[in-house]
Amino acid sequence: MIQVPFVKGKSERKKEKPEIPAHIAIIMDGNGRWAQRRKLPRAAGHRQGVESLRAMVEACLDLGVKILTVYAFSTENWKRPKEEVDILMKLLVEYLEKEIAELDRQGVRITPIGDINKLPAPAVRQLKKAVNQTKDNERLILNIALNYGGRAELVMAVKAIAELVKSGELAIDVITEEVVAAHLATAGLPDPDLLIRPSGEYRVSNFLLWQIAYTEFWITDTLWPDFRKEHLLEAIRAYQSRDRRFGGLRL
Ligand code: IPE
Ligand code: IPE
Ligand code: MG
Repeated sequence: MIQVPFVKGKSERKKEKPEIPAHIAIIMDGNGRWAQRRKLPRAAGHRQGVESLRAMVEACLDLGVKILTVYAFSTENWKRPKEEVDILMKLLVEYLEKEIAELDRQGVRITPIGDINKLPAPAVRQLKKAVNQTKDNERLILNIALNYGGRAELVMAVKAIAELVKSGELAIDVITEEVVAAHLATAGLPDPDLLIRPSGEYRVSNFLLWQIAYTEFWITDTLWPDFRKEHLLEAIRAYQSRDRRFGGLRL
């Protein structure tokens, strides 16, 4: 009997496991509109937004995402009425107080990015406590952007580098992209693979300007307080279908 060699068709070839993005960034936007649509005060939207953050951390832990960077309060958000800023800061303190033990247990490392010393004292206190308590965790890094602006971050890096040049510790010739990246709040971390913006706005609003050079964007009309694991999975599926070329060619 003649043996016919079995040739694997394209569909039978072992498919590579689709890649889960290692670093996901989210602009947590749309809380105000969520509340407005329900004729509720904006604070109700912010409160519901905290539930979405909780759900995202859980989903990232499940999926094996290594870094989650969330935009919680921008350098421009100080322009809002004081009552709204106060509520946002209060919710931050509440979130940390309530969640810290569980986050720590789950292996989440909390790292604020942005100039947190300008935040109200109770927020600074809770953040420092959270950082200290979770500093050795390695399962998921949760970067919370607070009083964060991409431009402010770059100004801070420029100043730090200028100081090194002034003191003779660094020569101008050796200022590379790596040196700049090492002076950002995200020093040592890979750039985000995927940036998600809920609430249908097509802009970056001063988030991670340097780090998103080759990040894949995913925008949805879903408002942040309604955002759940199913939306994250949709974003990840879209990400997995993208062809990331980084300026090169896919051969
Ligand atoms: C995001 O929701 C929360 C912060 C910016 C702090 P918004 O408050 O911006 O909600 P919208 O954009 O007004 O709907
Ligand atoms: C971006 O949302 C900042 C945060 C989500 C923390 P904004 O609501 O402040 O952004 P714009 O004003 O729509 O650009
Ligand atoms: Mg907004």
